[in-house]
Amino acid sequence: MHQREIHNIVILTGAGISAESGLATFRGPDGLWEGHPVEDVATPEAFARDPALVQSFYDARRARLKEVEPNPAHRALARLEAEWPGKLLLVTQNVDDLHERGGATGVLHMHGQLTSAWCLACDNRIPWHEDLSGDPPCPVCGASGGLRPDIVWFGEMPYQMERIDAALREADLFVSIGTSGAVYPAAGFVQTARYYSAQTLEMNLEPSLGSVYFHEARTGPAGLLVPAWVDEMLDAA
Ligand code: APR
Ligand code: ZN
Repeated sequence: MHQREIHNIVILTGAGISAESGLATFRGPDGLWEGHPVEDVATPEAFARDPALVQSFYDARRARLKEVEPNPAHRALARLEAEWPGKLLLVTQNVDDLHERGGATGVLHMHGQLTSAWCLACDNRIPWHEDLSGDPPCPVCGASGGLRPDIVWFGEMPYQMERIDAALREADLFVSIGTSGAVYPAAGFVQTARYYSAQTLEMNLEPSLGSVYFHEARTGPAGLLVPAWVDEMLDAA
């Protein structure tokens, strides 16, 4: 497809784009879940059953953000977004802040963010960078004991699905980067994009569960593949 015909790109990223920054993925050999069964730390039931364990799991992941930096893949997507304003929707399953720290602005965090807390007393989402253990008071309503990680847990509804569906219907190009294709609805985005005639490209360290649905699949580290792809897109524009 010639770049001049590309008016709308939807990009989906997963844990693999942050792997070279040092953040663990979920289903790799040293995966994040190795330490904990998912149902013990990433479900509403787990939070009801043992809030202290869940809070400490996410406190550790939030603290880890301060030790890592964006990598060339994050920065390349920010460059594309800046060069092609209004053409790109960047959807991430990641709850880290590396896209933003890499320069991206309009990031859609469909699974929430570590740097946000959700107050169950006043329903506000509040920027949050410290621990949630110890029941800190909500800075908006003052209630304590009501703040949970603003993370979409298994069984909960991802954020902004209507907006994502609308963008997939209009997309000329859908690009998936660093995701195993193991979790829906994100794993189904490629099928929706193809149904509405988009070209589809996957960049991943290894073929994913959804690779068969992509017109083109490039395997390798995101830190190499993504900057090269962005150069291709911008050179050909
Ligand atoms: N470059 C590109 N891809 C990589 C790299 C890398 N350097 N390192 C790993 N990968 C790939 C792996 O091959 C794998 O296919 O990234 C993918 C990571 O897959 P997962 O660990 O399953 O992470 P993700 O797909 O983002 O998980 C989706 O599941 O656990 C839930 O809510 C959580 O958002 C998460 C969702
Ligand atoms: Zn509150």
